[in-house]
This record gives sequence, C-alpha cells and structure tokens, in this order.
Amino acid sequence: MAGQAPPDGWSGFYRERRNRVRAVAKDGVILWLGHAMQPRNYAGNAYPFRQNSHFLYYTGLADPDLALLSYPEKDCDILFLRPEDMDDVVWSGAGRARADMARDAGVETIEDIGHLGSLVSKARSQGLKVHYLPPYQASSLLKIAELLGVEPAEVPGGASVPLMEAVARQRSIKSDAEAAEIEDALVVTDRMHRAAMAAARPGMREYEIAGLIQGIALSAGRQLAFTPIVTVRGEVLHNHSYDNVLSEGRLVLNDSGAESRRFYAGDITRTFPVSGRFTSLQAEVYETVLRAQLTAIEMTRPGVTYDDVHTRASEVLAEGLTSIGVMKGHPADAVAAGAHALFFPHGIGHMLGLDVHDMEDLGDIVGYGKDKERSRQFGRNFLRLAKCLEPGFLLTVEPGIYFIPALMDRWEQEQRHAEFICYDKLGPFRDFGGIRVEDNVYVTADGRRVLGPGIPKTIAEVEAACARGERDIASLCQKPAAAGGGRPPTPF
Ligand code: GLY
Ligand code: MN
Repeated sequence: MAGQAPPDGWSGFYRERRNRVRAVAKDGVILWLGHAMQPRNYAGNAYPFRQNSHFLYYTGLADPDLALLSYPEKDCDILFLRPEDMDDVVWSGAGRARADMARDAGVETIEDIGHLGSLVSKARSQGLKVHYLPPYQASSLLKIAELLGVEPAEVPGGASVPLMEAVARQRSIKSDAEAAEIEDALVVTDRMHRAAMAAARPGMREYEIAGLIQGIALSAGRQLAFTPIVTVRGEVLHNHSYDNVLSEGRLVLNDSGAESRRFYAGDITRTFPVSGRFTSLQAEVYETVLRAQLTAIEMTRPGVTYDDVHTRASEVLAEGLTSIGVMKGHPADAVAAGAHALFFPHGIGHMLGLDVHDMEDLGDIVGYGKDKERSRQFGRNFLRLAKCLEPGFLLTVEPGIYFIPALMDRWEQEQRHAEFICYDKLGPFRDFGGIRVEDNVYVTADGRRVLGPGIPKTIAEVEAACARGERDIASLCQKPAAAGGGRPPTPF
C-alpha cells in the first residue's frame, strides 16, 4: 500500500494508476468515459451531477462531459474536454481552465470532446481494439454505441473483461491516502450521526432528521455518498421514504454517509431510540447485533474469507435470537440451513471506496473473483463480498436484525425452517423495526483498522449522544469540517 503521495500529489497517483492498468490493453486503447449531466425535463435543468467513479479514480476530474483515451505507451493519454463556449459562460459561469484540468489529472495532451469519435475511429483503423468498462448510465451506453458504430444492445457484451478484472484488482487495494479520504468523509459523517441522535424527539417526522443530516453534509461542502436511510421502519432495508412519525418507543435506523473531498464514501449505520433510552427488549436485540459486529470486525484480517466472517456473524446473531426466544435448535445448524435469514436477510458487508458499494457495476469479479460462486440461499445471496481478504481491502461490517412482518407471515404459512423458528413468539416483534450497526474497516497487513473518529456505538454511548441538547446540535451543524472543510485545494 503506497503511503506517500508522489511529489506531484494526486496527479502523480492518477498517472501511476493509468500506467499500471494500460498493461492489460497492449492490443488497443482504453476508452474512459466520464458521465454526462442527466436532465430532469430539459438539458439545463439537470439532476445533481456525480462523476463516474472509474473516471474519478484514473483522473480525479469531477466535471461532466469528459473522456480520456489511454494508449499502450507509458504516459500516453489524451484528455477530451468541452470547448470553451460563451453560452456556457453566460449560463453556468466560466469553467476551469482546460490546462489546469489536464495538469490536475497528470495528462499532457488535450483535445475537444468533439474529436473523440475521429480519434477512436483512427485507433480502430490502425487495428487497435477499444477496451471499455460496461456502462451503467444510458447516455454512456449510447455514446459508446455511437463511437463504435454498433447497436446499443451490443455494448454491454462488448465490454472488456481483462479491463474489468484489472480495474477491480487495482481499485480493490486501497492506499493509505485513500483510507485517509474515508477517514475524512467520516469526520462529517460522525457529525451527521451525532446530530440525528441529539435531535430526534417523539412527534417529529423522519424527514426532519433526514434534512438535518443532509444539511450538515452540504454545509461542509460535501455531497452524501448515497441516498440516506433514516427511518423507524428499519426492517425495510433500503427505505428511502421519510414520512413516518418518530413515535415514543420506536427505534430510528440511520444509514448515511458523506463523501470525502475527493469523493470517497463514508457508509455508517447507527440505530437509536426515539425516546433516548432503549427498552430492555431493544437493548437485548441491540447487544446481539453489536456482538455480531464486534466478532466480525475481530475476524477481519488478511487470509480470512469474508463469507466465513458472514457465517460467524450470522451464528452470533442466531445465538442471541435463541436466547431472546425467537429461534431454537443449534445456531450453527440454523445458519447452515439459512433459517437465521428470516431476521438477517443481507450480507455482512461490501467493498467501500469511491462508490458506496464499490465497483458493484463490475459484478461479482469484485467480491467473488474467479474461484467463488455466489450462493443462491436466501440472505446469503445478498452477500456482496465473499472472497479472501487482502491488505488494502476497505469494507463495511454491518450485521443487523430485522422483523419484517410480511416475510414472517410468509415463512410461517409455509412453516419454513419450523425446527429453528419460534413462530408463536414473533407477535410482540411485529412493530419492532430493525437494528443495524455498520462501520468502515481497513484491512491492514496484520489485522484491521476501524476508521472514523469513534461514532457512538455502545448502548451507553448512544444514549449519551441522544441526551445532548439543542446547543450541541447547533454546534454539530456549524462546526467547519476537519482538514479545511469545503472543496479540496486542487479544484476537483
Ligand atoms: N448504505 C447502504 C448499503 O450499504 O446498502
Ligand atoms: Mn453499507
């Protein structure tokens, strides 16, 4: 894991990264497409822009409508940019100087984006193959179809498998500088979580908390790394509505994170009581989830497979659920059969980096590799990372326990895994919701490091954070971000 930035800072990183990956494309060029603005109803009214993470990884450039062609020779790249245009200046302001953008990306040669097609054609006429990653935005897919003169439906199948494998390999191993970016994201994320705990009161709506935490990220000059989950219905795993009332006795599940100044994601979940104090039943379930999380973190080290970590964490959850009285039989047998997935229907974690589910667009190459196949068993089929851990992996550890009424009813009707589930004991849990505890963990040469400034996690810490008052919330909202706040000194 490279520690120090090269003398030319991150532009040196980008150059090094491109020089390493171009080795897989000796027979051609690599086409890196940046994202385009996505219109809401017409071109000038666009959704908030977020650059393609592969493009960020290899150039650091966050502006729309960029492309890069990498040739087989060392340092041989062409950056394609929009030409200077007075209408753009009038409506959007003068963009950054093109020479500055090229310098920041460590690229010597620039061209107008309008010349991309002719340079791709020229490369192909010289017998060079065009390697590209599978696009996931329709505008990129259509652009590639146009550049290569193929039908849009042919584009995904034409993506370069050697390039996908090389990118997955390269981006999977995070440098210390990348881990520091996630630490930076977590400074702001910590304040978002503390403010949510301090602000929640019976009678509020979820959107008041969601708005508060988004405001904290925005006022620190950051975007959120993903659409936050802020809900008393924590059993709905990716619940993106915020209309529920925070009623006394419920738990709030807050899964949210800010981006770092160079667009790396924080991804933290905390669950806390609306009233500020856990009931004894909530505390029992919470302690079970926390025990599973700490066990999983302790196991996280090079040489261990993440599906073994998933299995062991699942067993700890099943043990706790057995003592709570909703499971029975031997916990390890229950986990082997998949019975625990009634309460834990997702994986223990995923890769984290420039994307919250890092590189999930490249498929199971990232989390499984060539030797492992994804399980089809319910619950484990959502395990996004299963392979053997290596130094430099950066991942989430996020077990949970959920009581999903529709799923409990379905399984009870089918008497599924009836030897392991106490269906007659589930009645009191129908309004329980869900509990998840999630941290971001960096795999080191001999173990792991939990990133972040210590976001409240034990019951005592969470209850203390909930007990904080209005003045604390105001200071969490106003304090400038660490490391200078706002955008980085280089104009990303
Ligand atoms: N933070 C959302 C997820 O990990 O799926
Ligand atoms: Mn996550």
